[in-house]
Formats: sequence, C-alpha cells, structure tokens
Amino acid sequence: MKLIIINGPNLNLLGKREPEIYGSQTFEDFFKELQLKFKKLELSYYQSNIEGEIIDKLHEVGFDYDGIILNAAAYTHTSVGIGDAVKGINTPVVEVHISNIHAREEFRSHSYIAPNAQGVLVGFGLKGYELALQSFL
Ligand code: DQA
Repeated sequence: MKLIIINGPNLNLLGKREPEIYGSQTFEDFFKELQLKFKKLELSYYQSNIEGEIIDKLHEVGFDYDGIILNAAAYTHTSVGIGDAVKGINTPVVEVHISNIHAREEFRSHSYIAPNAQGVLVGFGLKGYELALQSFL
C-alpha cells in the first residue's frame, strides 16, 4: 500500500515552532518512528511552503497512490486551489491538523479541503497522522 503524508507551510519548523501548540518533536523524527511502526507500507513524506508545489504533488500522486494524508496548514483556510486539487484527484485524502483548529481563532475553523476529504482529524497532536494512516488500513 502506497501512502504519502503532505505537509504545508511552516510545518518544516515543527519542534521549534510554538511548541506549546505543536509539540517539541521534529517531523523527521516522528516520520522515522512511523516508518518503523508500519514497515510493510510504502510510506513517503513531502513538505512545501509553496502552494503551487503542494498542488503539483497532489496531481503527481493523486491517481495511483492508495491514500494521502494532508495537513495543508495555513493554506487549509485560504486555498481554493488546494481544495480544487483534492476534489480533482482520485486518491482519497484524509485531512489532519495537529492542533484543534476549532478551539483557536475563528478563521481556522474553515477548511477548503474538508468538503472533499474522506475524513478529518484535528487536535490529536502528531498522533493524528498515525490515526489517519490507520484509517487506510
Ligand atoms: C495546523 C493548523 C493551521 O491553522 C495552522 O496554520 C498550521 C498548522 C495544525 O496542524 O494544527 O500551520 O494545520
């Protein structure tokens, strides 16, 4: 089974960025743990701070991968383009947010991705990525 985690802007700073909200582990360390836990899966990881690159990656993987775990970060709340890309591909997308976006500023409650996602996981910290991954198994 081929799955990919796609992270959006500023998530390259996990571990350093607002640790009280996002925790103190780097995504690279967390991803290594995930790979060890799910050795049988073909699991890859992509991060970009650039909206168009995230759209390009969704197009690239969205017709032959079995699942996409997407945390589009701030673009979740602003990007019609990423929302349209999720709608336009065949591979199911599970939307993940580390923090509970509904317990924060009002603008974070809206997602352009959720209407076309298979499911949404928010507020479980990095564990949310693992739960999303399990949803594909
Ligand atoms: C986030 C929540 C977004 O509102 C924020 O812009 C992020 C991270 C999360 O994982 O909790 O960068 O997607």
